Amino acid sequence: MAKIGNIDVGDFPLLLAPMEDVSDPPFRALCKEHGADVVYTEFISSEGLIRDAAKSTMKLDIYEKERPVGIQIFGANLESMLQSVEIVEKSNPDIIDINFGCPVKKVVSKGAGAGILKDIDLMVSLTEAMVKHTNLPITVKTRLGWDNDSIKIVEVAERLQDVGCKAISIHGRTRVQMYKGEADWAPISEVKNNPRMHIPVFGNGDVDTPERAVEMRDKFGLDGAMIGRAAIGYPWFFREVKHYFETGEHLPSPTMIERLDAARRHLQMAIDWKGEKLGVFETRRHYTNYFKGIPHFKEYRMKMVTSDDAVDVFAAFDEVERDFSDFQFA
Ligand SMILES: Cc1cc2nc3c(=O)[nH]c(=O)nc-3n(C[C@H](O)[C@H](O)[C@H](O)COP(=O)(O)O)c2cc1C
Repeated sequence: MAKIGNIDVGDFPLLLAPMEDVSDPPFRALCKEHGADVVYTEFISSEGLIRDAAKSTMKLDIYEKERPVGIQIFGANLESMLQSVEIVEKSNPDIIDINFGCPVKKVVSKGAGAGILKDIDLMVSLTEAMVKHTNLPITVKTRLGWDNDSIKIVEVAERLQDVGCKAISIHGRTRVQMYKGEADWAPISEVKNNPRMHIPVFGNGDVDTPERAVEMRDKFGLDGAMIGRAAIGYPWFFREVKHYFETGEHLPSPTMIERLDAARRHLQMAIDWKGEKLGVFETRRHYTNYFKGIPHFKEYRMKMVTSDDAVDVFAAFDEVERDFSDFQFA
């Protein structure tokens, strides 16, 4: 049974990865409904939070139904990170996660995200200061290292644990790799096999089938799987993995009615949460997967992704229901 601080997260939990413009409250709620055990917000800038930038503070919203939920923050400045811990606490999350893995240039160039992998002492001291500054469990999400020649993740994870980090999620790529190549889970397994390690070690990167999740659990011996891209437009992935764990069999694909129901609810929750314009815009990226596999679908999809008006998108869903209600997904 894995525990993050005092929070029981079950046996081999499935965690929804933090994803910018994806892991918002509506999507997290859908993933939770379909079996995600822990969900994380997208990363939130500590500098944005302390400037009270509306875009950053809005990301702090959480629904009761998605607990346990972690709010992820990033930054490299101690003072800003500590102040943002205080701001984040007011939203009453269950966990605060530190992003030490984002490879994007604008983040890395400021020494934040994966940029901190070039200064492990700072990574450890920032974590320690944050742990001391809050009663909430602090977790870390990071990558294997800066590049192939500087992978010290076993030592890094142990040092983070020793300063009070309560769980670590490791994406099996280096910063230099960005998203290229395959995630390498062997170094993550080495972290787990370190006899001094006692906090949960979660694996991340390329878990895109139930079989891969089993491999992460049984072959690599990790404590849970963090899932990102496989869940975009496909919140059912969590329940499919769980069903496979329990039975060794694949669940049938969600039906058209289930997919339409999810798409409609997703869009409505997004509109309720962030208004029509942003709600319509930011839900678009999910439709490809919601309706993947339907032949000659382009005309319908174009309606969903080109109109700024929610009425048009809902009308497109109605047309899909009218024209494809009997469609069997593979
Ligand atoms: C669209 C997108 C946005 C992301 N945003 C974040 C983020 O805000 N914070 C973070 O730690 N990782 C972020 N990531 C990385 C994911 O959390 C995850 O580490 C990565 O996608 C690998 O896992 P996967 O193969 O299951 O997708 C993002 C990834 C994607 C695809």
